[in-house]
Amino acid sequence: MFRHAAFALLFAFGCVIHLSRGAEVNVTDKDGKLCLYANVMLNFSVSYETSENKTMLAYFDLPSDVMFNGSKCDNTTSILKLNFGAGHSWSMNFTLNGSTYQADSITFSYNLNDSTIFPNSSLTDTLSVNVRPHITDVSTDTSYSCKSKETFQSDSVIQTLWNVLIQAFISNGTQSKNLTSCSADLPSTPTASPTTVAPVTNTTTASTPAPTTPAPTLPTPTTGKFTIKPDVNSTACLLANFALRIGVQHGEKYQEINLDPNVTTVSGSCGVNTSELVLVSNGMTIALTFTNDTKKFHLQAVNVTANLSSGLVVSEANNSLSLWEASVGSSYMCNKEQNFTITSLLNLFTFNLQVQPFAVNKGVFSTAEDCQTDSENFLVPIAVGVALLVLILIVLLAYFIGRKRNMASGYESF
Ligand SMILES: *[C@@H]1O[C@H](CO)[C@@H](O)[C@H](O)[C@H]1NC(C)=O
Ligand SMILES: *[C@@H]1O[C@H](CO)[C@@H](O)[C@H](O)[C@H]1NC(C)=O
Ligand SMILES: *[C@@H]1O[C@H](CO)[C@@H](O)[C@H](O)[C@H]1NC(C)=O
Ligand SMILES: *[C@@H]1O[C@H](CO)[C@@H](O)[C@H](O)[C@H]1NC(C)=O
Ligand SMILES: *[C@@H]1O[C@H](CO)[C@@H](O)[C@H](O)[C@H]1NC(C)=O
Ligand SMILES: *[C@@H]1O[C@H](CO)[C@@H](O)[C@H](O)[C@H]1NC(C)=O
Ligand SMILES: *[C@@H]1O[C@H](CO)[C@@H](O)[C@H](O)[C@H]1NC(C)=O
Ligand SMILES: *[C@@H]1O[C@H](CO)[C@@H](O)[C@H](O)[C@H]1NC(C)=O
Ligand SMILES: *[C@@H]1O[C@H](CO)[C@@H](O)[C@H](O)[C@H]1NC(C)=O
Ligand SMILES: *[C@@H]1O[C@H](CO)[C@@H](O)[C@H](O)[C@H]1NC(C)=O
Repeated sequence: MFRHAAFALLFAFGCVIHLSRGAEVNVTDKDGKLCLYANVMLNFSVSYETSENKTMLAYFDLPSDVMFNGSKCDNTTSILKLNFGAGHSWSMNFTLNGSTYQADSITFSYNLNDSTIFPNSSLTDTLSVNVRPHITDVSTDTSYSCKSKETFQSDSVIQTLWNVLIQAFISNGTQSKNLTSCSADLPSTPTASPTTVAPVTNTTTASTPAPTTPAPTLPTPTTGKFTIKPDVNSTACLLANFALRIGVQHGEKYQEINLDPNVTTVSGSCGVNTSELVLVSNGMTIALTFTNDTKKFHLQAVNVTANLSSGLVVSEANNSLSLWEASVGSSYMCNKEQNFTITSLLNLFTFNLQVQPFAVNKGVFSTAEDCQTDSENFLVPIAVGVALLVLILIVLLAYFIGRKRNMASGYESF
């Protein structure tokens, strides 16, 4: 591995100390001086297709036998590259910017040809994913420290990083004892920017559980009126009034976002069998697909792409819903707050909801089928049944009383 690094401007040299599930790396320059230090714990969840056409999930940790050829330090850029297993690698690029440094990207490459991790994979390629870490404004001559778990989600890969201690630029050959802690580690305001804390003499990583940041309570979202017209001169063919909020789970964190109708652009289409409403606002894109099943319609699909405050963009979709059902020719209405679980990671909350995706007449809502009356409708047959039962009992009672009287007075009533 030393030969591999020799082509680099600076000579990378070092050793790897094995931890339970992490790796400690000391990268040195050509003079043998320490120039990059890293100690990270990392695991992966990768979804892949098998030859039988099924999607499988592979879970694995960064193993103990990690090589770091390809890691190097320069005056203003550093690369931490960890190579492991049968052709997998994980790397982080850093840049120095005056008095601070930051991590620009994380690249994870995995070799689907590794059958111990990806049994029966239909592909044998090496795939790569790129994510953007949230390591910014780390003061030079301090180590970045983050004990909390941080999750990076891309299409098919979830990476969880924790117990991280990295100094990407070491000037005098010794690792700094001063730390820049990530905001998740700071006890007070979770949104605070990283701060430099006083010297810490112990760099042994302690496994403190990540604090779950409580979601700040949002005000009730504003109700918007959204309409789709088949062309400029026509009246609306789709009507939707609602206030909407989404709740997104990402890793340990949960964030809620309100749809702001004032900054929402509306698009979509009306069809015979399917109508679609697409709302694009500053923080999210939401597509609602309605299906006409001859007599009734329902909300069939929801696809939400949201920009979270962490900078992460998540996309969650479900194409097999049957919500908001009402007769074609009427509208679905529900004023109370409703909570719909769209996927395990996405919840949708609606308030003051009224939609009519089909058969809109003169651009106004038709009769509403209210979700409140659903329970009342349910009660009617029960009430009728109970009344009938009571009636039958009275008739039977009357019959037996009558029969007894008749018998007492000597009549035969075969
Ligand atoms: C990765 O590690 C974290 C922290 O220990 C754990 O919560 C998570 O379940 C692990 N994920 C996988 C895929 O093993
Ligand atoms: C799924 O497998 C079948 C045969 O088992 C194949 O015909 C089909 O093309 C596969 N579909 C995809 C999406 O790969
Ligand atoms: C590290 O902390 C000590 C004590 O707070 C301080 O004197 C020193 O300047 C700090 N070094 C850096 C590089 O911030
Ligand atoms: C770190 O702390 C542990 C226990 O708190 C102690 O045993 C160890 O000696 C310390 N290491 C250093 C380098 O101070
Ligand atoms: C819409 O109406 C305007 C004037 O009322 C007319 O000039 C235009 O051709 C119409 N457009 C369509 C698509 O019907
Ligand atoms: C949206 O606009 C309306 C009127 O234009 C205004 O009353 C309301 O405060 C605005 N809402 C937000 C969240 O900006
Ligand atoms: C709903 O679907 C049925 C059957 O496909 C069709 O006859 C009807 O016209 C559709 N309704 C609307 C409003 O498009
Ligand atoms: C709507 O669905 C019906 C029944 O499934 C089908 O016959 C018809 O062709 C569809 N219409 C359109 C426009 O897709
Ligand atoms: C959801 O929307 C995004 C962006 O518009 C798109 O890339 C993705 O394919 C959609 N997902 C589904 C399941 O339709
Ligand atoms: C919404 O529903 C989910 C699942 O039923 C539940 O875990 C969550 O607490 C609910 N959220 C609110 C705000 O009611």
